[in-house]
Amino acid sequence: MEKILDLITREAEKAFAECGYDEKYAKVTLSNRPDLCEYQCNGALSAAKEYKKAPFLIADEVAEILSKNEMFASAESVKPGFLNLRLDTGYLAGYLREMQKDKERFGCEAAKTPKRIMLDYGGPNVAKPLHIGHLRSAIIGESIKRIGRFMGHEMIGDVHLGDWGLQMGLIITELAQRKPELVYFNPDYTGEYPKEAPFTISELEDIYPAASAKSKEDEAYKEAAMQATYELQQGRRGYQALLSHILNVSVTDLKRNYENLNVSFDLWKGESDAQPYIPDMVQKMKEEGYAYISEGALVVDVKEESDTKEVPPCMILKSDGASLYNTTDLATIVWRMKDYHPDEIIYVVDKRQELYFTQVFRCAKKTHLVGEDTKLTFQGFGTMNGKDGKPFKTRDGGVMRLEHLVSEINEEMYKKIMENKSLADEEEARKTAKIVALSAIKYGDLSNQASKDYIFDIERFTSFEGNTGPYILYTIVRIKSILAKYNELGQKVEDAKILPAKSESEKALMLEISHFSAAMDSAFTETAPHKVCAYIYGLANALNHFYHETKILAEEDKEVQAGYICLLELTKDILEKCIDVLGFSAPERM
Ligand code: ARG
Repeated sequence: MEKILDLITREAEKAFAECGYDEKYAKVTLSNRPDLCEYQCNGALSAAKEYKKAPFLIADEVAEILSKNEMFASAESVKPGFLNLRLDTGYLAGYLREMQKDKERFGCEAAKTPKRIMLDYGGPNVAKPLHIGHLRSAIIGESIKRIGRFMGHEMIGDVHLGDWGLQMGLIITELAQRKPELVYFNPDYTGEYPKEAPFTISELEDIYPAASAKSKEDEAYKEAAMQATYELQQGRRGYQALLSHILNVSVTDLKRNYENLNVSFDLWKGESDAQPYIPDMVQKMKEEGYAYISEGALVVDVKEESDTKEVPPCMILKSDGASLYNTTDLATIVWRMKDYHPDEIIYVVDKRQELYFTQVFRCAKKTHLVGEDTKLTFQGFGTMNGKDGKPFKTRDGGVMRLEHLVSEINEEMYKKIMENKSLADEEEARKTAKIVALSAIKYGDLSNQASKDYIFDIERFTSFEGNTGPYILYTIVRIKSILAKYNELGQKVEDAKILPAKSESEKALMLEISHFSAAMDSAFTETAPHKVCAYIYGLANALNHFYHETKILAEEDKEVQAGYICLLELTKDILEKCIDVLGFSAPERM
């Protein structure tokens, strides 16, 4: 279905043309004075200059025509030359009935030329526990992926594991100290290695921080870790076998964590998967004259004339020939292009890495790792801060682990639900608390523009009132309960359908619903999940307002009542579709 604003604009264009004015002036927008009208067109003010005529005269002529149009309840010209429009309630009801017929998409058109978009998000590091910094990437990336899929694009999510570099050598070194008898450390061993990992996830999570701390104090220890890293990268058998154990144990644990967040990836590729592509890539960059030696290191210049800030060269190899974070990201682009040839790659990464990605993107374009037709997009996100405005920490000031944050909020939600006494069964209360807690975390994050820092306020985010996830879920649950009661009444009406609004609050709700596809569309084109949040907050408010003003279950006219029920069903379905693209769901009761 066409967007309602486009349909309205089309009628305005016809009217402008009929009066002899260019239709480019007929652009209609949502009214910024909802108390005066629903939609407005300010084109007469601009047209006045071209036609050397008072703007209100133009607006008068157009209004005259539009007020005869069945689409509008009223079309008024207001001095100095505004056009104020209100939709006809019958027209609006018809539009919603069409939306309701389309159970999957509610009239939102899928892309005519679907794009293949790869999404680089999550970015966890093997053997290191997930922390708060990884939360935003996972939440935002997952939502962008789902919005894109809804809009008909092929979205491929890649977790881009941090599984390369010194951290692996550190783990091997520490393990060698703790369990020197392990066969992996015997260079003369030629047999098969055990299938079972020689450590559990909790040991692994203990090993890495211990090793990292030691390496900062003990030079010899650090040397050993660097040597182990080198030997691993050179292919030493025992270390390679350890690496796959580390990966397996770690990835199993990561998957469990992401599952709890309702986040999933299509690809579990890591930095290590890019390594085989490095030699050829570097060779080509050298041969084609893009890479040159500067102070011992191999670099590619990426500054541009229009730069206002200095953009340093992109370093490809260090002076000792070792590759870097950059090299890995560039080589990752190589295999992504080779295996998938995406139209776009979106990186959902901390915005402090913006300059870094500017260098990588420019280097990739300049050295033709990607062609002109591939878009590289950096979707940077801000920091999640505590109530003191500083990066979120545990009570004793340590790095907050994601798991702990999630269980803290689950607990908080559970307490609230028990206080409300709405759920008697403890098990159901626990399950519901988890569902609602996830909405609190995700909506709390996604309702902010991604690039901004925000304050993670548990109190506010878990509240059932205000612009929060639990408020949205509460609204959905409220509708579900009305629908259930209606069904119990057993008063089904044949041919029930959405009817023209009979009150201001009902019309306001219907107008909100009608803007669904515009909200989804702009959330996708602007990579902005917060647009979906803003939309459902408005929709939930309109629903609750309508609910408070209207007797629904006590309505005596059965046809009118059935119309209300249809409207509630559509509202619920749309709210549920929206929270699905945000990456959470609603319980049956709460
Ligand atoms: N592993 C990195 C970190 O924890 C994030 C990776 C971001 N993605 C990328 N392609 N560089 O900071």
